Parts: sequence; C-alpha cells; structure tokens
Amino acid sequence: MNVEMIGNYMAPFAFDVDVATGIIKDYKNHVVRKASSMRGYYADAGALEALIAEGDPIHYEVFERTVPEVYGNLMVGISKLYPGVVGQECFMTKGHYHQVIQTGEVYLCLGGSGYLLMKTKEGDFSALPMERGKVVYVPPSWAHRSVNCGDDPLVSFFVYNAESGHNYGDIETEGFIKRVYKRAGAVVIE
Ligand SMILES: [Fe+2]
Repeated sequence: MNVEMIGNYMAPFAFDVDVATGIIKDYKNHVVRKASSMRGYYADAGALEALIAEGDPIHYEVFERTVPEVYGNLMVGISKLYPGVVGQECFMTKGHYHQVIQTGEVYLCLGGSGYLLMKTKEGDFSALPMERGKVVYVPPSWAHRSVNCGDDPLVSFFVYNAESGHNYGDIETEGFIKRVYKRAGAVVIE
C-alpha cells in the first residue's frame, strides 16, 4: 500500500465527505453489494430472486480511506445502505464479526433512519436506532449489521481497528436472531 510518509511516520491526512450524498470524495477502496450479492441472507429467497431479475439493484456501498491493516491504525469510511424491501424485509448489510473478535467499532449516522443490529456468539441481541447525529458504539465481540427502515439512504461514518478484518461466515448460516420488516407501513423487529 502506498502511504505517504513524513520522516519515519505515516503522514497525517484529511479527506472530504459529501454528507448529502454519503460519498467520500477521494476514497481508496469501494465495495458494492448488489441484490445478487445477498443470496442466503433474506427470509424470502423468492422475493430476492425477483428483485435480481428486475435489475439487481445496489443494496449498499462502502467507501474507505485505506490504511495499513496493522495494530494501531484506524480504518475510516462511509457505509451507504439504500432504502428498499425484499418481500417485507428491510434492506440490510450482510453483517459481520471482526476476525480479531476483541475489537470494537463506532458508527456515526449522517442521514437516513434504521437500526444497527448486534449479536454475540452466545445469542445475545441488541438493536439500536440509527438516525442523523446518532453514534452507536459496538463493543468487542458483537457482530453488527445495518438495516435501512426509511425512504432515504442510511449513511454512516465508521471507525474501527485496521487489523480487525471481517468474518461473515457464520452470519450466513446463523442469521442475526431477529429480522426487521415493514408491515403495513410499520417497522417491526421479530
Ligand atoms: Fe465492523
């Protein structure tokens, strides 16, 4: 990775976030997850296939300012989760534990509304609301997933230990204990 140096040290840097659109202007890494990336994650697999056939819309994007993935560095970026439903289930991110499980994360919501769902390997569960100005602190050991319950993109700035890594494996098989639906206009977690 190309890192600017000042003497023996990584150089401080700054970057701009377009808060309205939820995009880092000079991002270094861009992850795009379309509906077709989400097979196995929603309760209604048929509804997801229909969505894929209708044009395979983007579910979410992640923009990162990458730094060396070693202890001491902080990874920072923006998560932008689009609004929509699969059947009645709200659009969500895959969710993950950190590979280095003893590492936490901070989310600052910049726009939109939804939830951050969290769970532990022991089956503990938490759902905290996300809306503009809300900070959610994810302690070590908690898997985390964003869910968009609104009509606008759910945009969050995140910071986590750069060496954390992502572990998606058992989320795909275990799920997240509860799911978030829009039923007759009401948001329900069940
Ligand atoms: Fe994370």
